[in-house]
Amino acid sequence: MSYYQVQSLEQYFKHYNKSIREPRKFWDKIADENFTWYQKWDKVVEFDMQEADIKWFINAKVNITKNCIDRHLARRGEKTAILFEPNNPGEEARHISYNELYAEVSKMANVLRDQGIKKGDRVCIYLPMIPELAFAVLACARIGAIHSVVFAGFSASAVAARINDSECKMVITSDGGYRGSKTIDLKGIVDEALKNCPSVEKVLVVKRTNANINMKEGRDQWLQPLLDEAMANSVAEIMDAEDPLFILYTSGSTGKPKGMLHTTAGYMVYSAYTFKNIFAYEENDIYWCTADIGWITGHSYILYGPLLNGATTVLFEGVPSYPDFGRFWEVIDKHKVTQFYTAPTAIRSLAKQDWKWVDGHDLSSLKVIGSVGEPINEEAWHWYNDHVGKKKSPVVDTWWQTETGGIMISPIPFVTPTKPTYATLPLPGVQPVLMDELRNEIEGNQVVGSLCIKFPWPGIARTIWGDHQRFKDTYFSTFPGKYFTGDGALRDEVGYYRITGRVDDVVIVSGHNLGTAPIEDAINEHPSVAESAIVGFPHDVKGNALYGFITLKEAGSWRNQDNLVKEINEHISSHIGPIAKLDKIQFVSGLPKTRSGKIMRRILRKIAEGDFSNFGDTSTLLNPEIVEEIKNGKVE
Ligand code: PRX
Repeated sequence: MSYYQVQSLEQYFKHYNKSIREPRKFWDKIADENFTWYQKWDKVVEFDMQEADIKWFINAKVNITKNCIDRHLARRGEKTAILFEPNNPGEEARHISYNELYAEVSKMANVLRDQGIKKGDRVCIYLPMIPELAFAVLACARIGAIHSVVFAGFSASAVAARINDSECKMVITSDGGYRGSKTIDLKGIVDEALKNCPSVEKVLVVKRTNANINMKEGRDQWLQPLLDEAMANSVAEIMDAEDPLFILYTSGSTGKPKGMLHTTAGYMVYSAYTFKNIFAYEENDIYWCTADIGWITGHSYILYGPLLNGATTVLFEGVPSYPDFGRFWEVIDKHKVTQFYTAPTAIRSLAKQDWKWVDGHDLSSLKVIGSVGEPINEEAWHWYNDHVGKKKSPVVDTWWQTETGGIMISPIPFVTPTKPTYATLPLPGVQPVLMDELRNEIEGNQVVGSLCIKFPWPGIARTIWGDHQRFKDTYFSTFPGKYFTGDGALRDEVGYYRITGRVDDVVIVSGHNLGTAPIEDAINEHPSVAESAIVGFPHDVKGNALYGFITLKEAGSWRNQDNLVKEINEHISSHIGPIAKLDKIQFVSGLPKTRSGKIMRRILRKIAEGDFSNFGDTSTLLNPEIVEEIKNGKVE
């Protein structure tokens, strides 16, 4: 197999230049040499970046699960595909071989078909990190149903909004989930959500915690008895290259989540290619990504990327702090993990703990360690590099997004010299550019700008489900003809990229991408609240935390502000999820606004950060006096 796997810096530049000069030839070869197709493409790519219309591998026919599972059976049938490490270290790990994966996915696919799910139907998957989650995702892909995995930390109303947006016909959930010392009542949340979801006909329930749950007659069924009756082999649906594979919701800067749509062949090629290169993957490696499958990182780098490469991928149900802060290191030691991929927020929280948690475990199996989800600060980078990688396993700081489908900018281990806090160089096939405020491309090095990509790559999302106009407006209109990432970046003297953070109203909290608008909408629903503005501020562990400036309908009417703070946070928790709770709330008598009524978030951001030095031009403010009041009342 050849993925243009890069072995030296010289080769990197060679491949990179080829990918720019002849992108069609470059991707044609990767797609041709590494996958099983029912039928190959007539044309590699067709695109119109003005209209945000992008297609890859035109008219090719393929099924991604044939590539993830079936084609490995002859050579790797007995090899572990999924290594399940349960929340409770006392529960035995499960080694699921490729043969078993084939049987489990087939059974699940047959159940879905029996229950009336057809190609193109949407299925919402709301499950904890258990093997059935992987089986359900792959079973959808097997029969051509579009999976929409919703992270099991979302609240009932967030689940309902996602189900309704894509009109899911079915929900797959469980009687509950374990997370550290807690259990989560997933079925209860689904029941609550489904009060307002007319499209859902059936609910399949996995047994995990044995919690006492309600089963609604005619709608809900336990999954296991259905699986027991199902055949352990199945025919894969023949999918067109551009048939939808999945929808995954991500926050935007307006209230409604964006259902990013990924299609079959391009996503397959891109997730496989990036996995192989970025993790320097070799046949007997044990690869572990700690993300949740409810996020894109889990889709691309727990399931699809590793399985497409015939790898062994660890599926971890637990959390880094349970039963103690040594859990990650214990699991690495126990399974002799070779690649470890996690988020800066986890690194920061573990770096705060006693040394003994790391040092008590043998991490010598590690070859490559990765970071994803937000900028990694210098201190955390060094801690990770020194204490986990022991300065011998390169840190791959991988920059990408739900929208990009796979990693875009990252060091290639043992090839690209790493530099703390830098995602370094684009992968061959990826063409980043920095843009200035006048929408001109910034040439040369040692420059800062808005990060765009100027040529399509196979993994790019094709649209926002049901709203192509929003897709165009969000990603392709700020810098016409280019894909705008929403991130700012700098390019250093040798051409390395460093991502500086979002330039829009999205704040990344503990690696979770949160739009401020939906949180404000939730707060504004509280009967006492008149208006609110949310901004991010730097936080030691979470990277960013949320600061809310809130005006009340009747100022001072709330004698007990502590209660109000609690109520507002509970309200956010039930509307969006606990991840969106505010760390600080300041009640103010007004918000700084321009004459056109727009809240000047720039000023609020500086106040929240504790930087009162220079608020820039405030002459356009309608109420400049409010700035002083807000400054004086800042919550510490
Ligand atoms: O701001 C960037 C940040 O995460 C955003 C994408 O979030 P999401 O779609 O949830 O996907 C996260 C997992 C891929 C980006 O726009 N981000 C992601 N990785 C990095 C990063 N910021 C800096 N460095 C990174 N390595």
